[in-house]
Amino acid sequence: MMQLNPFYYGGIIEDEYFCNRVEELKDIKLDILAGLNTLIYAPRRFGKTSLVLKALKELEKKDEVKYVFFDLMYLSTVEEFINKYFNALAKTLEEPTDKIIKFFKSILKIRPNINVSFDVTGSSSFSLALGGEDVDKTLEEVLNIPLAFAQNGIKIVIVFDEFQEITNLDLESKLRSIIQLHSNKLAYIFMGSKKSLLHQMFLDKNRPFYKSVKHFKIKEINANSWYEFIESKFLNTGKKIDHAVVDKILTITKGFPYYTQQFAYEIWNITQDKADESLFEKALKTILSREEDLFSVEFDNLTSNQKKALKIVIEKNGQNVYDEQYLAKYKIKSGSLQISLKNLTERDILDKTSSGYYLQDPLFEYWLKQMSQC
Ligand SMILES: Nc1ncnc2c1ncn2[C@@H]1O[C@H](COP(=O)(O)OP(=O)(O)OP(=O)(O)O)[C@@H](O)[C@H]1O
Ligand SMILES: [Mg+2]
Repeated sequence: MMQLNPFYYGGIIEDEYFCNRVEELKDIKLDILAGLNTLIYAPRRFGKTSLVLKALKELEKKDEVKYVFFDLMYLSTVEEFINKYFNALAKTLEEPTDKIIKFFKSILKIRPNINVSFDVTGSSSFSLALGGEDVDKTLEEVLNIPLAFAQNGIKIVIVFDEFQEITNLDLESKLRSIIQLHSNKLAYIFMGSKKSLLHQMFLDKNRPFYKSVKHFKIKEINANSWYEFIESKFLNTGKKIDHAVVDKILTITKGFPYYTQQFAYEIWNITQDKADESLFEKALKTILSREEDLFSVEFDNLTSNQKKALKIVIEKNGQNVYDEQYLAKYKIKSGSLQISLKNLTERDILDKTSSGYYLQDPLFEYWLKQMSQC
């Protein structure tokens, strides 16, 4: 029988593909059960959605929660928000179509027609006929629907994934004014990958969601967990991987989940019996050539000062970036460097910790380093 690759990278993962996150799962579950509203953020492809869904599914299995998962990516109008959210609510009910419609009719004061369509697999999708209805009123009613889900002490949790997108819909104040009346009844999890936008939404005094949530930043998965995860998966599929190869993977990926799985996946694919450093080099080439186009577009889109700023961050390892020698080397004034660093942080290319700046995407960093050595 052909062995399947034990690694996976791309979308949401579960079960055997899931590495560590033990502490995070515990904390998220406690917050959910305490009914806190939380903001969970991390860069793209960091495992936010997988983590939150795993926590919710585990609680759901024990009948402790019922959850609504709603992804705001790709929504462009308020009507679309209403309908897609309405559909997500209907799906959460897990009841036959006629029962769902009856339930909605019993709780909605507005009387729009509820449309149901079926795809080829027979699965249904719900929407509201939003003709002459007052959009604001309908939105309010739809946002209040989950209040009617509450039953027998089961917590109702609403997840808004890619929540920063709400700003494009001009719904921030409206949404906040309605859901603040849900405290103690529903728990909200706001998730997203644009840290700077989310910070503005939740930390700026003049914004509706100011200080309304507990912040939860997801970190990289630690090296020990990755060694165990990667080495055991090789062994369980009749192959081996040198410890030094896992070292090399982690030096580049720094434990970033998506890339670590991508390296493991590609190396496993080309390994007959044992993965050594030459196979690592081969996989690295494959991965870089695949990501290269995206990276060069991203780099080309920067201003020349931003490019200089990135190079300085890389060369100085994010520390003492205003070093006179480097300002002279790259012919940039400290004021311009400051502006560029701020712009790069706002664009979520850079982030800052107490020890300095770093690039959010470790493979982009590696690629840039290679480029500047050419
Ligand atoms: N706990 C984990 N263990 C192992 N791999 C993980 C883990 N979490 C995420 N990954 C890897 O990262 C990929 C992306 O995960 P996921 O879609 O949950 O991240 P995300 O942060 O929601 O991404 P996006 O920004 O695209 O929405 C997965 O396909 C998997 O390869
Ligand atoms: Mg996601």
